[in-house]
Amino acid sequence: MNKIIIANWKANLLPTQARSLTKKFTAERPAKNLTAVLCPDFVALSETASLLKKSAFLLGAQDCSAFLPGAHTGEVTAAALKQCGAKYVIIGHSERRANGENSKTISQKIQQAVAEKLIPIICVGETAGERRLKKTKTVLAKQLQEVLAPLPGNYAKSPLIFAYEPVWAIGSGLTPEPLETAEICAMIKNLAAKAGFSRVTVIYGGSITDQNAGEYLQQSAISGLLVGGASLDARRFRRLLNL
Ligand code: PGA
Repeated sequence: MNKIIIANWKANLLPTQARSLTKKFTAERPAKNLTAVLCPDFVALSETASLLKKSAFLLGAQDCSAFLPGAHTGEVTAAALKQCGAKYVIIGHSERRANGENSKTISQKIQQAVAEKLIPIICVGETAGERRLKKTKTVLAKQLQEVLAPLPGNYAKSPLIFAYEPVWAIGSGLTPEPLETAEICAMIKNLAAKAGFSRVTVIYGGSITDQNAGEYLQQSAISGLLVGGASLDARRFRRLLNL
């Protein structure tokens, strides 16, 4: 099965750095069975789009507005991302949730993305404390329910990606076991299917490197990886794309 690898550059790069990293990445093709997606910040989006034009890489954004185009100072709409050439958009990353983004807003953003035929990459995951209390499954079920329930019925057939990203694994060097991760990804897919969403794929993110990526990609329930830190190093990321 084709797997997807998504680079989330977060707010780490200046536009010149994003340009030079994009050029290094696209110097080689990713392995045939992989879809590779780069997610720069908004400022670098247009230039990255033109650099990716003749490459095998696709473009994604790290967020989108919950609103339609209009008088919303500082917002970047899904329609604008689409016109820039984005195919994917990360929504509800835990770093945004930590800054106050709630499920209602996340659900509205998913609606905007799907209406523009962007594929949302919806981040979910438990904190270290919730894991300690063995609440992972309950937390994930609640996060899924809260973002999916408000979506209009006709969205059920749209492709959605869920990224299982345990908050404690992000940027920490800590990871859940691949087998346990695969079970959780399968559970997320089942929960979405029960809610009527039939085109959901589930990927994993959190401290993925070129060293550990293979163990996760081997699991059939894990359809890909969302990669932060390791996507800022051209050599490591290219190794990851050639597994
Ligand atoms: P990390 O970040 O790979 O640096 O842990 C992943 C993410 O936040 O999506």
